[in-house]
Amino acid sequence: MGARCRTRCTCSGGTPPVGSSPPRCPSRCVSVLGGGRRFLKEYPFEEGYFEQQAREFLAALELPLILLGGINRLDTVEGALAEGFSFVAMARALLREPDLVGRWEQGRRDAGLCIHCNRCMPSIYSGTRCVELRATPA
Ligand SMILES: Cc1cc2nc3c(=O)[nH]c(=O)nc-3n(C[C@H](O)[C@H](O)[C@H](O)COP(=O)(O)O)c2cc1C
Ligand code: SF4
Repeated sequence: MGARCRTRCTCSGGTPPVGSSPPRCPSRCVSVLGGGRRFLKEYPFEEGYFEQQAREFLAALELPLILLGGINRLDTVEGALAEGFSFVAMARALLREPDLVGRWEQGRRDAGLCIHCNRCMPSIYSGTRCVELRATPA
């Protein structure tokens, strides 16, 4: 999974002021990005980013398959189920908004608010959560 640090710490490529020590990363992305050096390639987010590859499995296998990866919209879910996937799995979209599927069930069709920043990843060590929730009051 790609990771993007949006702070000005050194692991995001930010340049510390002359004569100062590198600023501490407030989002602790160093643990994701690897001690100040990027080792994960970045990819632009694309809705349903595994869909194309998953279709190849769907065509080749006679097994119930779950589509996973970047599902944030109801039309993606509907398309996947219509195409033959048995289920979809959603991770970050539901970490950001646990009630998203419930809203869809009630007839709303709004897309998830997750911005795919991946800053939830380090939170697995201290209680997995969407760190954006703190920044964005409901
Ligand atoms: C905070 C966080 C923790 C995760 N932990 C695991 C894990 O323990 N095992 C695993 O196989 N995938 C884990 N994943 C990956 C998700 O299960 C999922 O495959 C991935 O996030 C892509 O789906 P999404 O685009 O809907 O988020 C984790 C993802 C997140 C964001
Ligand atoms: S921190 Fe929140 S907004 Fe960012 S990827 Fe994780 S769930 Fe989505």
